[in-house]
This record gives sequence, structure tokens and C-alpha cells, in this order.
Amino acid sequence: MEILEKEIEEIRKSFEIAEKDVKDYQTFLKLKEEFLGKKKGKIHSLLNLLKSLPKEDKPRAGKLINEMKDFVENRVKEIEKKIEEEMIRKRREILDPTLPPLIPEIGSSHPIRKMSQMIEEIFLKMGYTIEEGPEIESDWYNFEALNIPKDHPARDTQDTLYIDNEMLLRTHTSPVQIRVMQKRKLPIKSIMPGKVFRKDEPDPTHSPMFFQVEGLLIDKGVSFAHLKGTLELFLKTLFSKYIKIRFRPSYFPFTEPSAEVDISCPICGGGQMDCRTCKGTGWLEVLGAGMVHPNVLRVCGIDWNEYTGFAFGLGVERLAIIKWGIEDMRLFYENDLRFLKQFSRL
Ligand code: DAH
Repeated sequence: MEILEKEIEEIRKSFEIAEKDVKDYQTFLKLKEEFLGKKKGKIHSLLNLLKSLPKEDKPRAGKLINEMKDFVENRVKEIEKKIEEEMIRKRREILDPTLPPLIPEIGSSHPIRKMSQMIEEIFLKMGYTIEEGPEIESDWYNFEALNIPKDHPARDTQDTLYIDNEMLLRTHTSPVQIRVMQKRKLPIKSIMPGKVFRKDEPDPTHSPMFFQVEGLLIDKGVSFAHLKGTLELFLKTLFSKYIKIRFRPSYFPFTEPSAEVDISCPICGGGQMDCRTCKGTGWLEVLGAGMVHPNVLRVCGIDWNEYTGFAFGLGVERLAIIKWGIEDMRLFYENDLRFLKQFSRL
């Protein structure tokens, strides 16, 4: 019994010393384990002592042990409360309620995607459908079927990334015209957006990968007037009803006749000598177009005496550059948030 009383006194003393060392939550947990731990805790070890005592001493010994246990438990609770309060106080100290809240940044779609959507929306409203084709294309679809045979000089203007003798990364979206004419019933009224690839060094106006949108309309009695009206409506909707539109005779192997289409510069209004967008010419080339060549219709099994059609192809980056006055095409691919964020509200 004496041993027990001595032991209890020892524990009380060592607890009072140990509790002074509690500085933070970690040291508090150590203290709690040391005294109240289920297996090796000092209070628990008193219970072992209790077993070895004679029967008549047990009630008093049990009472002493319980008092000691209550004492330690209460102190531990008090210390825990103090430590928690201290932690909250410290957190308040580093919290500045005048700072704006940490709202996670919300992304937005890329300006090229936005421009593609604007283009798609205008044509969807005119009743066009959207079609897609593969980015890895065969020589036949990319060139041959579009009236560009192997030795044709038009191949030279499109430096091509070949995969092998037969397959290549498509240089334009025009091969999708062929695929659509092969698989869809007439009449056809579709746009075909997508990535295209050329062996070009990146500079302010070139990129080895860029986006195009192809357009194709095939029906009975389609004329150049329909092409003009369609492109005029499209360009005026995209830019402004005040722009002027000009068709220049041009050449594409897959259209006859062919034209390049210019708009009056929407940045300077046309003809300002120091305008960096139109370089003082007042005009900007925006797309290529024409009446689908009879050879192309024939390859797709369409009777060109009964059906005619028009086609056009435009560069999405080019239209975005003009619309938003961007000086270097490479900005689109650098993923600099300072650039991209300027389009987040469009
Ligand atoms: N495929 C041409 C290019 O990438 C653009 C083009 C011109 C497409 C005239 C057409 C078209 O459909 O009729 O340069």
C-alpha cells in the first residue's frame, strides 16, 4: 500500500513537470500518451499494482488511483483547450480579412475556339451542317481528288508533312469536301472545320499547324451569285455591316472560276497609310472560294450537268487576327495567360 501511495505521488510530480514542457499540439499528444495511454500509460500501470495488493487494501487503493486518474484527465482536458485556443488565435493573426477571397480561377475557351464558334454559329443559322474529316489523310483525298495531280505546281505552294509515300498530314480542309460528297445525299450544305498542317517555320503570319473552315454547297442551279451573297452575309455578320467586300479573280485547281475575297480593313476603316493591319492598302484578304470544278464533282460521282456548287476555305487564325487586331499569330499557341485572359469575356 505504501508503495502504491509513493508511486501515485511520483506520478503527480512527474506530471506537473511534464505539463510545463507542452508547447504545441505535438508535445501535448506525447504527454497524453505518456500518462493516459491505454497500454503503457503511467495511470494504467497503477492498475497492475492494484492487482498485487491484499484484498483489504484494494478499496482504498482503487479510490486513490481513481482520484489520480481524474486529476490527470482534467488537467489534460484543460491543456488541450488552451492549445486549441492558441492555434485559433495564431490562425487569426495570419488571416487578413481585408484581402479578397481566394476564388479558384475559372478558365475560358481559347480565342481560336471562340472564333471557330462564331463562324460555325453564322453558318448553322444559314442552315449548314458541320462535318469532320481525318487529320491524317491520303495523297488521293488531299491532292488527287481535288484536281491536283502528282506533278501539279499547286503542290509546291503547300509544303507538306508526309508520313509515308501515300499518307500525309492534311494541308487543307478541302479533302473533307470529297469525303462529304462521297457519303452524303444531295443537296449538300456543310461547313468542315479542323486543323491543317504545313512544313512552315513559325513567324508572325505562319504556323506549321493552324485551323481552317471549309464550306461546300451543292444543289441544282447554284451560281456564283449564291456564293457572293453567302460570303457577303457571312463576312458582314462576323465583322460589321459597314465593311466592303471585293472578289478578285484567282486560281485554285478544285474550283472554276476561282476568287480570292478581300474585306475593307475593319481596323482603320480603309486606306490609312500607317495602318499595321492592312499596311495602308485598305484591303485584307480573308478567304479563297469558287465554283466546284467539274472534275471534282465527277470524281465524287455527281452529275455535273445537273448539279453545280460552290466552295470556300478560310483560315480561322487569320480572321481572329483581323477581328481582334492581333499582331503575331504565335501568340495563339504560347499559352500566355496575359494574352488569353483578354478573350475570357467574349
Ligand atoms: N484549300 C485552300 C487553301 O488551303 C483554300 C480554298 C480555296 C478552299 C478555295 C476552297 C476554295 O474550298 O474553293 O489554300
